[in-house]
Amino acid sequence: MKQEEHKVGELIYDANIYDGMNTFMDDFEFYKRWTTKGVTLKVLELCCGTGRLTIPLAKEGVAITGVDFTETMLTQAKSKSLNAGVQIDFIKADIRDFDLKNTFDLIFIPFNSIHHLYKNEDLFAAFQRVHHHLKADGTFIFDCFNPDIRFITEGEKELKQVSSYATDDGREVVIKEIMQYNHQTQVNSIDWHYYINGQFDSVQKLDMRMFFPNELNHYVTSNGFDILHKFGDFEEGEFNESSQKQIFVCKVKS
Ligand SMILES: C[S@@+](CC[C@H](N)C(=O)[O-])C[C@H]1O[C@@H](n2cnc3c(N)ncnc32)[C@H](O)[C@@H]1O
Repeated sequence: MKQEEHKVGELIYDANIYDGMNTFMDDFEFYKRWTTKGVTLKVLELCCGTGRLTIPLAKEGVAITGVDFTETMLTQAKSKSLNAGVQIDFIKADIRDFDLKNTFDLIFIPFNSIHHLYKNEDLFAAFQRVHHHLKADGTFIFDCFNPDIRFITEGEKELKQVSSYATDDGREVVIKEIMQYNHQTQVNSIDWHYYINGQFDSVQKLDMRMFFPNELNHYVTSNGFDILHKFGDFEEGEFNESSQKQIFVCKVKS
């Protein structure tokens, strides 16, 4: 399966550019709590990227496997896990059509990754694959944004600087952002203008499909899961109208 119309630019998944920007770890304690429940759980992370969560979770003793379809991200994940001295199976696959011939106690899709499943059939295919790989009493967790129309409207007005940092391989990066939301497809088409070492480099696409709360609840329950909890933040506050996040903890429908 190919994502023909929507995409994420190559520079965004340049592993050092990605890691330099994504130092966020506010979700780590949450995922640690759910993946370390006294017994050793067999855990699968879908869309594991460069192992931002995978590697520290493995260091906590979690038996974890990571799946992602971007080669550059997996290469970085493998090299970082070697340096950290942890054993993790990193597998290259598309979460919409993979088969590991294995089942897991807990499967999670963190860090807004479902926004890259642009069409309903992409999301439903991934949910079906999760269902297939989950033990009967297993847990499925994922997080994404709660779409904020006011934020998007502001973001459409002008190019704004959103990040400035140095990469491990010595590049000074500045990112400026402007977005355009498509009210039919629900895809927010974000342009990131990259400046590297003080020079304009390129414009990279970061398309994100927005999922509204009531539709997402329905998609989860109509694809074979019961929602145990819906949190609005990683401290496990209940989801409400001001929540920036939608965090689902699900079980296979009984
Ligand atoms: C926002 S990054 C999250 C990476 C990592 N989980 C983290 O927390 O930093 C999204 C990741 O999802 C991966 N991805 C997106 N769509 C995918 C798909 N259909 N199958 C496999 N991986 C996918 C990308 O390659 C990228 O590494």
